[in-house]
Amino acid sequence: AALEASFAPKLQPRNKFTNQLQPQASFKVAVLGAAGGIGQPLSLLIKMNPLVSALHLYDIANVKGVAADLSHCNTPSQVLDFTGQGQLADCLKGVDVVVIPAGVPRKPGMTRDDLFNINANIVKTLVEAVADNAPDAFIHIISNPVNSTVPIAAEVLKQKGVYDPKKLFGVTTLDVVRANTFVAQKKNLKLIDVDVPVIGGHAGITILPLLSKTRPSVTFTDEEVEELTVRIQNAGTEVVEAKAGAGSATLSMAYAAARFVESSLRALDGDGDVYECSFVQSELTELPFFASRIKLGKKGVEAVISSELQGLTEYESKALEALKAELMGSIEKGVTFVQTKA
Ligand code: NAD
Ligand code: LMR
Repeated sequence: AALEASFAPKLQPRNKFTNQLQPQASFKVAVLGAAGGIGQPLSLLIKMNPLVSALHLYDIANVKGVAADLSHCNTPSQVLDFTGQGQLADCLKGVDVVVIPAGVPRKPGMTRDDLFNINANIVKTLVEAVADNAPDAFIHIISNPVNSTVPIAAEVLKQKGVYDPKKLFGVTTLDVVRANTFVAQKKNLKLIDVDVPVIGGHAGITILPLLSKTRPSVTFTDEEVEELTVRIQNAGTEVVEAKAGAGSATLSMAYAAARFVESSLRALDGDGDVYECSFVQSELTELPFFASRIKLGKKGVEAVISSELQGLTEYESKALEALKAELMGSIEKGVTFVQTKA
């Protein structure tokens, strides 16, 4: 039962005359890259969260208008804007959660790894500032390629002497959101009940939905497994192609990232029943980073749920073995990037 609780929507208490959300806690959240395609809708969703008292928005451009706009919503949190490297330290001081969607998105024909050259530097610079100004914060990395940017962040934090592996997360929630949606559609299930763990990483074949572990329990034909797995692995590309040069997933990503922020804040607030899948430092396999279901607590990752890797189908076991070389390569590329710059 514990695993089923993760994102059941709860009715939020509101003032009956103003319809305003009642504050329930007072956490501070920073969004780095807040004026972007993900950053804007994500900031709106975080602004609606009653667990948040302050929302710090940072970007290299256009963030003043986004903050002014959002600040008029009559939800409890205060919105502050920060522009450019000179204001980054102030943006980060005292925050509990830092979300990083800064960086360039894909265009048709590109892989996520094609973004490495630009985004690696962006993530490195931003995480250096997080290390200096918010060393205890949970860090949520959205910028691609996640399989490399999370190891980059870990190396930066190590160099700064503040690495806490329990507090660094690669956001893979969108893979779970997609898997839940596609499985519910395919099998005519009530969407709110469906929960599919997705493990591995966040690119192509490294994204591995464990359809055999779907809750509630469902039976799939071999053809359905193949079709659903491939669709979940290519869902990012599906959006990139549909947007035809105008970027990648932003709205569904904002929704997924807001869910991961909400889960983190609930865990920080003492809820003992919070589970999500995320790409974290891990001993579950021989790979140093691996996405799997984790239990979130006040100090970050409280437990890595290993039981879901037991009793895999033959299809899943083969796919797990097949993804390891690519994922390891991406992890090593990130580590090497930071180590050779030092
Ligand atoms: P976007 O171009 O619309 O927005 C990116 C924002 O980052 C821009 O506002 C830009 O000004 C800002 N930025 C660039 N350099 C910066 C810096 N040094 N400091 C602060 N801000 C900076 O892109 P987007 O669609 O929002 O996507 C952002 C990233 O998220 C991409 O790398 C994309 O691949 C990734 N992404 C990840 C997932 C996932 O599941 N993890 C899903 C979708 C997109
Ligand atoms: C996604 O899965 O939508 C993101 O990683 C963006 C992309 O490039 O596909």
